[in-house]
Amino acid sequence: MKPLKPEIVLTGDRPTGKLHIGHYVGSIKQRLISQAEYQTNYLMIADMQALTDNAHDVEKIRESVLEVTYDYLGCGIDPEKTTIFIQSLIPELTEFTVIYMNYVTLARLMRNPTVKSEMQLRDFGNTVPIGFLNYPVSQAADITAFNATLVPVGDDQLPMLEQTNEIVRHINFHFETNILKECKPILSQVTRLPGIDGNAKMSKSLNNCIYLSDDRETVSKKVMSMYTDPNHLRVEDPGTVEGNPVFTYLDAFDPDKSELEEWKDHYRRGGLGDVKVKRRLEKILQAELDPIRERRAEYEGKANQIMEMLLESSKKARIVAQENLAKLKSVLGIDYQDMY
Ligand code: TRP
Repeated sequence: MKPLKPEIVLTGDRPTGKLHIGHYVGSIKQRLISQAEYQTNYLMIADMQALTDNAHDVEKIRESVLEVTYDYLGCGIDPEKTTIFIQSLIPELTEFTVIYMNYVTLARLMRNPTVKSEMQLRDFGNTVPIGFLNYPVSQAADITAFNATLVPVGDDQLPMLEQTNEIVRHINFHFETNILKECKPILSQVTRLPGIDGNAKMSKSLNNCIYLSDDRETVSKKVMSMYTDPNHLRVEDPGTVEGNPVFTYLDAFDPDKSELEEWKDHYRRGGLGDVKVKRRLEKILQAELDPIRERRAEYEGKANQIMEMLLESSKKARIVAQENLAKLKSVLGIDYQDMY
């Protein structure tokens, strides 16, 4: 066996619903690679961050913590190799955040392109909650509290890593230290999966997701109802592959790339029907989802044990954050132990 690389990897999700196949190809697969490759992996269930845009729907967050964990375990995230923890069980993260807030300006937060577009999406304008605007700072806390140097994320999260590294450099420079570590992204190779309705984003609120927990019949129905090329009316008509969600999914899941290319050519020429392409996709998807579904169902039956695991690993993670916070506070001089 190859020795594991020493870097510390940390990533996380907001628990706001079950995970879908977009999460699977976009982030979970990368995490499976990472847990096989690196010595230290943290996977954070970011309930506090979820609160920043779901402040009035705490119940949804609460329920999703276990659902998301079932999804992780079902996909093969191994709690022996990846420390899965709940963000709010590490209060030190809040202390990191409050310290960092003094080194970030309001103007800087308003310039964050991801925050900007999320604010527009939610019509926040001047009514943006402070907690929401501040979430890039709390994300810097998440990353640095564990000395993580590698962060697997989608490209929408790059501004958060930039913000993290700015804080790191600022504090290191000002306090003449190297206590904080800069981080780098591990970018997902797969482009974002569109929704089954052709919308660019797969999202719960659009009701266009295929969930990892969907049963066979639901997956089948969803695939058969997928949006394809609207101009491909008769089988003989030439069809468009680019931007056609059925082919985008096949690109992400089909193990036989050369046969897929033949199918694409056939579709472009005309003579290949949508139903046939959808059947191919369904077969491939079911084969990939079957074992996940099976394992997930098993974990679902063991809610108590899973919760215990989460509490235990959160405790373990907390000790690391506590140590690192004590070091940071000592460097900054927010530490009065030696003054009497
Ligand atoms: N912002 C991330 C998301 O919405 C979740 C997240 C919170 C995260 N803290 C993190 C990701 C730290 C990576 C590192 O998906």
